[in-house]
Amino acid sequence: MPLKIAVCVSGGGSNLLALLESLRNFGGAKVVLVLSNRATAGGLGHAKAFGVPVVVFRNPADDAEWLEALRQHHVDLIVLAGYLKLVPPAVIAAFRDRIINIHPALLPSFGGPGMYGLRVHQAVLASGAKVSGCTVHLVDEEYDRGPILAQSRVPVFPGDTAETLATRVLEAEHRLLPAVVRAAAEAGRPIPLPQPVESNP
Ligand code: GRF
Repeated sequence: MPLKIAVCVSGGGSNLLALLESLRNFGGAKVVLVLSNRATAGGLGHAKAFGVPVVVFRNPADDAEWLEALRQHHVDLIVLAGYLKLVPPAVIAAFRDRIINIHPALLPSFGGPGMYGLRVHQAVLASGAKVSGCTVHLVDEEYDRGPILAQSRVPVFPGDTAETLATRVLEAEHRLLPAVVRAAAEAGRPIPLPQPVESNP
């Protein structure tokens, strides 16, 4: 039985698309539901193109709405892929160790409340770091603080802007997230990746 995945998106959904493409011919996992707090999220178009049901929350803070949708679709694993709202605590408790998030920096640096989108990359550039990257971690009650499952490193080049760095990191995200999901499918639960994922294979 494939691992049944719900992906939560708030924006463009390029990570959702990378996951849908990576799982297209993979028997071990399937995206069965896409959840969003925004009816206009670009990611919803990718879901529809792949025939995946979509739920747009009436109230994203209402745990009953989440749990009903997740149970209806027999979801085993929740993937936050650019989901910008808080996951209700009751959902985190019900899916303990079965929610993962992708963050566009090397946690524990450059994470936490307010660290999303271009702000993350602006902070990396302001710090003078020569390396950035992305992180997939388990989600718990604290923003960006759950155990790290995998990271991918990306160089920061002189002359980078937040936008050029974001583009380079996003490409690495599109390899890292499917790799973690496939490993979770094989193990039956999210596990740390044994091998680093090359940012530029
Ligand atoms: C990604 O950078 C992800 O790390 C962050 O939000 C962005 C989402 O991009 N959490 P997309 O919607 O998957 O294109």
